[in-house]
Amino acid sequence: MTSSSTPLSTIDFGRTTLSEALHKALASITDNAVPEAITPAMLHTALERPPEAHLGDYALPCFRMAKDLKRKPPEIAAALAAALPAVNPEWIEKVETVGAFLNITLRPAALAKILVPQLREGTYFSRLQAPDRPRVMIEYSQPNTHKAFHVGHMRNLALGDALGRVYEACGYPVVMANYIGDEGAHIAKCLWYIHKTQQKAPAERRGEWLGEMYSQATIALEDAPPDQVPALNAEVSGVLRAIESKQGPIYEEWKETREWSLADFNDIYAWTGARFDHVFYESEVSEESQRIVDEYLKSGVFVPSDGAIGLDLKEEKLGFVIVRKSDGNTTYATKDLALARVKFRQYQIKKSIYVVASEQNLHFKQVFRTLEKMGFSEARDCFHLSYGMVTLPDGKMSSRKGNVIKFRELRERMEQELDKNLEKYRGEWSEAEILDIRRKLAVGAIRYGMICSDPAKDIVFDLPDWLSFEGNTGPYLMYTYARTRSILRKAQEQAFLPSQAHLELLQGPEEREMLRYLNDLNGVIQQTLDQNKLSLLCHHVYNTCKVYNRFLAQVQVLKAESAEARGARLALLDALSQALRYSLKLLGIEPPERM
Ligand code: ARG
Repeated sequence: MTSSSTPLSTIDFGRTTLSEALHKALASITDNAVPEAITPAMLHTALERPPEAHLGDYALPCFRMAKDLKRKPPEIAAALAAALPAVNPEWIEKVETVGAFLNITLRPAALAKILVPQLREGTYFSRLQAPDRPRVMIEYSQPNTHKAFHVGHMRNLALGDALGRVYEACGYPVVMANYIGDEGAHIAKCLWYIHKTQQKAPAERRGEWLGEMYSQATIALEDAPPDQVPALNAEVSGVLRAIESKQGPIYEEWKETREWSLADFNDIYAWTGARFDHVFYESEVSEESQRIVDEYLKSGVFVPSDGAIGLDLKEEKLGFVIVRKSDGNTTYATKDLALARVKFRQYQIKKSIYVVASEQNLHFKQVFRTLEKMGFSEARDCFHLSYGMVTLPDGKMSSRKGNVIKFRELRERMEQELDKNLEKYRGEWSEAEILDIRRKLAVGAIRYGMICSDPAKDIVFDLPDWLSFEGNTGPYLMYTYARTRSILRKAQEQAFLPSQAHLELLQGPEEREMLRYLNDLNGVIQQTLDQNKLSLLCHHVYNTCKVYNRFLAQVQVLKAESAEARGARLALLDALSQALRYSLKLLGIEPPERM
């Protein structure tokens, strides 16, 4: 616990300064006998947001202190209201009581004088960093080869990549990892179908074609007459064994076709700007997974059962986890046991985050629990970041319904839609710039749409909605940024420069609100990390943009009432644009400088 002598973190200047001032005010109303339980840190967490902005910046509920202070909450509020302004007149503008609550307004000038220069110089965000943060691995994307990469996969990519950026912003060394499913029954089905129907691979887009073959294979197997099913399954198993034998024509085919999918994935990662420091493959952990089975069968952690080998977790309601099937093959779960060991051994990580859809909640509970039973103490540092499904306005995607939006189609449809908006710049801007803006908008739109909701919830992918320049969308945020930059450029053309000489002139309601959002930004980034919830940061950036656009509609910048006010507003705009650019970067969004 933080004692009153340990300085509070300054990632949130407003809250920190205020909690220290409140502690001093408490000292003055108790003759320097503040009960030990009431520390600045405790006050820091107790401070709330008043329900409406005009009520103030912070609200302190006084109930929790009543017992320690042996006074009634409204009495405490009243005494603090009287004492607080004198403690720090530079920061405290107004204090009011509403029953047991203390509503406090800070002086915007105090915030502006710290925030504006720090944001403009870039020092604001370095406050999030701390030395000696442990290394974290974020495993994300993890597509399967021989299957289509579709719009649903983008949610994982957007969540994982952005989470890595947030961890890095907070000073954690991060290993961004992929774990590609290049082994198993799905591949056997795909290759089996290609042979069975004697299909020839096209010259281009071969990764996509494999995905198509795989989904036709599943449909064919599902639709097969029941009396033929055993024979067909035997054929597929034959293909699987041929791949696993690591020799012969089918094995060679596996190697070649695998590359087609990998090439597609790499194009997708390049387009979206996703980073991977290391790529694991299921195929490379299967041997280690066999060794694990032998090792823990011997030590008695795993037991034989009906020809298979596994671990009984029924008492914990996690079922019987099979680690080696009766055909001698290990399972998806076994490979995860091997992968976890490799991760911690090879990379000296202290925490391993797995970004994987909620369909695999049980799987990860089983894997982490099994690792514990194996005595792998790092299991407690493994964390499954689960997220909900992506559906379409017409329901769930399914190959059978033919409504799966594959990556290429997604990209092309977005580009077509955006071209309608960018048409007007043809001739005026270079083709290269237009293409660059189009890519940034498309990537930003898809990434933002995928992460702006609570990860636990299912989301509906609605292309026109996500591409809209209004509302809670990526393009709206990027547009707001570009708008700021163009105002600043225009100002410069007229030789109007940002000035920090009169930041005390930033007094209007929107200016105050913007300063408050800027003040809170670091805290929100920290919370986003603590809760692994990017929607928190999205929400904050969106709210900031809303206030800012309202400000532009109501307050003159270039035509401000005085040169001093103009300089101060331009400085605020510049600070805001830096905050926006940084926040968007954390979300994986690169806004164009103009549009
Ligand atoms: N490739 C798997 C799938 O598509 C996801 C892998 C998730 N990561 C893991 N360590 N199991 O279902």
